[in-house]
Amino acid sequence: MNDDHAGFMADVITGLSATPKRLPPKYFYDAAGSALFLDITRLDEYYVTRTELAILQTHASDIASHIPAGSALVEFGSGASTKIRTLLNALPQLAAYVPVDISTELLAQEAAELSRDFPGLPIYPIAVDFTTDFRLPSTLENHPKAGFFPGSTIGNFEPREAQHFLACAAHTLGAGAIFIVGVDLEKSPETLHAAYNDAVGITARFNLNMLTRMQRELGATLDPHGFRHHAFYNEIERRIEMHLVANGAQTIRVNGNAFEFANGESIHTENSYKYTQARFADLARSAGWDIEASWTDSQQHMSIQALRCRRGESMSERPDHAKLHPPPD
Ligand code: SAH
Ligand code: AVI
Repeated sequence: MNDDHAGFMADVITGLSATPKRLPPKYFYDAAGSALFLDITRLDEYYVTRTELAILQTHASDIASHIPAGSALVEFGSGASTKIRTLLNALPQLAAYVPVDISTELLAQEAAELSRDFPGLPIYPIAVDFTTDFRLPSTLENHPKAGFFPGSTIGNFEPREAQHFLACAAHTLGAGAIFIVGVDLEKSPETLHAAYNDAVGITARFNLNMLTRMQRELGATLDPHGFRHHAFYNEIERRIEMHLVANGAQTIRVNGNAFEFANGESIHTENSYKYTQARFADLARSAGWDIEASWTDSQQHMSIQALRCRRGESMSERPDHAKLHPPPD
């Protein structure tokens, strides 16, 4: 078993031993899951991608004006690298582009395509979990850094984890850096429900891929038809929750363990938090960032936030999760 599989195995055993059972959403994104996510982005019901892309296209030069010439631009969770193209076209003076993603094959493929389409731009892909303490290439040491985190992937963190991630990004990008972050906004529960319960069942396949990935990579024994997709808006927590719910009693066997499921018991696979602009601004401030500008669509469904890393706070060490203040709820 390679290191990636060992980490997956450890997280599966921890998550399925917990009450309630859970699995981290980063495991959605093997090659099959990344392809299914791309299909999700094209669904009529999934407003997130097209709305954010439209905001980027409308305001590309304004957004780009916040990123200094000569910057190294680091994208967290670059995926299919669709949105970055709009920004790169508006940023001819960029020193380098650093896409960071856990989906190794997609990352390599997209970096190769971007190199062909932007031949003068040095590209340094990093295949890593962006919540770990990874290093940027040393050749970029003397360049100002800018961050890009589109798609509302920040919403897949618990608010405390989002705060920790933002504080770590401040450490990675440095005092004075700009960070362009896509944040999904609160909206009608009906619109949210439809976005995660599409009529053709792509989101269900994306969710269920977590189980078939366990079979493929970990040799898990389970009945993938023994579980169903369940997504709903939790109005109190202001998040979509995705679960895999057991159809009847089920057992998942992996690495000598047997995890039993009662009928209707679920594995919680993802949260997708929705923010107001004010609540997101409070969260960002608590992690060392101020809101410099923000853009939204006419329906206020999605937003793009330009955060500026406050100067004068020590950035020499990676922040300790335990020492951060709880963010406002
Ligand atoms: N930025 C794209 C893709 C969003 S999907 C867009 O806006 O459409 C989320 C992306 O983040 C996927 O490409 C996934 O592989 C990546 N990702 C999710 N969790 C990650 C983690 N912990 N570390 C690195 N990449 C991660
Ligand atoms: C990547 N992330 C922001 C998506 C979301 O909307 O939370 C993942 C997703 N899950 C189901 N559909 C899309």
